[in-house]
Amino acid sequence: MQSKIKALAKERNAIILAHNYQPPEIQDLADMCGDSLELSRKAAQTDAEVIVFCGVHFMAETASILSPDKKVLLPRLDAGCLMADMITAEALQMKIASLPPMPVVTYVNSTADVKALSTICCTSANVVQVVNSLPQKEMLCTPDRNLAMYAASKTGKKIHVWDGYCPTHEWLTKEDVAAAREAHPNAVFLAHPECRPEIVDMADVVASTSGMLRHVAQAKEEEFIIGTELGILHPMQKAAPGKKLYPASKKMTCNNMKKISLEDVLKSLEEMSGEVKVPEEIRIPALGAVQAMINLKI
Ligand code: 13P
Ligand code: SF4
Repeated sequence: MQSKIKALAKERNAIILAHNYQPPEIQDLADMCGDSLELSRKAAQTDAEVIVFCGVHFMAETASILSPDKKVLLPRLDAGCLMADMITAEALQMKIASLPPMPVVTYVNSTADVKALSTICCTSANVVQVVNSLPQKEMLCTPDRNLAMYAASKTGKKIHVWDGYCPTHEWLTKEDVAAAREAHPNAVFLAHPECRPEIVDMADVVASTSGMLRHVAQAKEEEFIIGTELGILHPMQKAAPGKKLYPASKKMTCNNMKKISLEDVLKSLEEMSGEVKVPEEIRIPALGAVQAMINLKI
C-alpha cells in the first residue's frame, strides 16, 4: 500500500505532509512530519503541485491560505479540531467590538475566517515570541485559553483570553502527573502549552510537539513523561531509540488526528478528492495574519 501511494504521489507531483500526532503508518509514509509551524512553513515553500495534508482541517486550510495555486487534499474532510470549533468569526467579531482597539493573536488551530479577523497567528512553538514581537502591552489571544495564559505568564503582557481549549490536553490532571512522577521518579516531565496552567507549572520542559522531540533526542537524561497526544510517542521513540518514554496519561488521544488511514490517502490521490480551498475573500485577510507570523522567522 505504501509503495503504491508513493508511486501515485510521484505521478501527481504531490508531497505528503503529516502532523506528529498522526497514526504511525501515516507518519512513516509522509515526505515530512512536523509540528504546526514546520508544516505550514513547508506548505509555503514546496514546489509540489499537490499537498496531501495528513492532519486536521485547519492545517489543510493553512496550507491553502499559503499556497493558493496548489491543490490541497485532506484525505478525511471530517477530521476537524474540537478547539478550532470553540470560536466562530461572528463571536470573535462581537468580542473585538466589546474591547478597546488591540491586536488579536490567533493560534493556528482555528478556522480561516477566524484567522481573517486576526492581527497575527502563532503556534505552540512561537507564541511567546509572537506576543513579544507586538509593541502593544495588551491583546486578545484566541482560541486556546491555556496557551494564552502560558503566553501571559511568560511575557507579563495583559492578555484577554478566549475560553477555548483542547479536550485532549485538558484531560491531563495534576493527579495523573503526580502518579506518573511517582512511578518514574527519575523522568523529566514535558508538557504541551495546551495543557492546563497547573500542569504547565509542574513541567520541567514546555514545548510544541517538535520541540519535545528535539528535547528528548538531545537530552542527557534517559526517561521522560510525555504530556501531549499519544501519537507523539511513535516519532519520539524513533528519534530517541534507547530512551524510556511514558505517557503522562493514556487518555490523551485526539480522535480526529487518528481518522486518516492509508486507504484514505490512496483514495484521495487516486480521485484527487478531499480538496480544501479557502475562498479569496477570506484567504487574503487570513494570509496577512499567517504571513505576519512566518515573517518573524521564529
Ligand atoms: P503542535 O504540533 O504545533 O505543537 O500542535 C499541537 C496540536 O494540538 C495540533 O493539533
Ligand atoms: Fe485540536 Fe487538540 Fe486534536 Fe490538536 S489535539 S487537533 S488541538 S483537538
